[in-house]
Amino acid sequence: MSSRRSFIGYSFGAVAGVGALFALGAMKKSWDPLPSVRSAGFTSIDLSSLKSGEFSQFEWRKKPIFIIKKSPDMKINDKRDVVIGDDRYMLAIGLCTHLGCIPSWVPSQKIFKCACHGGEFDESGVNTFGPPPRPLDIPPFDIKGTMLVLGESGKQYKKLMNII
Ligand code: FES
Repeated sequence: MSSRRSFIGYSFGAVAGVGALFALGAMKKSWDPLPSVRSAGFTSIDLSSLKSGEFSQFEWRKKPIFIIKKSPDMKINDKRDVVIGDDRYMLAIGLCTHLGCIPSWVPSQKIFKCACHGGEFDESGVNTFGPPPRPLDIPPFDIKGTMLVLGESGKQYKKLMNII
């Protein structure tokens, strides 16, 4: 009798254990972000298609991203330029560091002008006039060949940010 009872007890225990494992698996699946969400944090931009001296705007995590492939007549900024081979790029989040308006690129003056309160940034994204308290922010990035991957903190990004 007792062996029959213990057999039933073990059987229930085994069934409950398997059920618990399935439940845990299902719970983990619902906690994990969907693959689409995981990849949504990263944006890849092929820099080889950009023309020298031309301003381009992209989007990353719903924020405007400014990129200029610097032409030889543009100022070099070793503290901010993204360097790939012989090319230098200005890369920044296109939100004014005063109150968050989107500045416009003025090619004739090679500056970014913020229409909200007259703030200005040079071709490296450094604040040069008006109320903006600091340069435009540089988004985390990594370089893979000629691809710029936004959302990843690569070696060059860490170097610019003085993290390494
Ligand atoms: S928001 Fe750009 S100058 Fe005020």
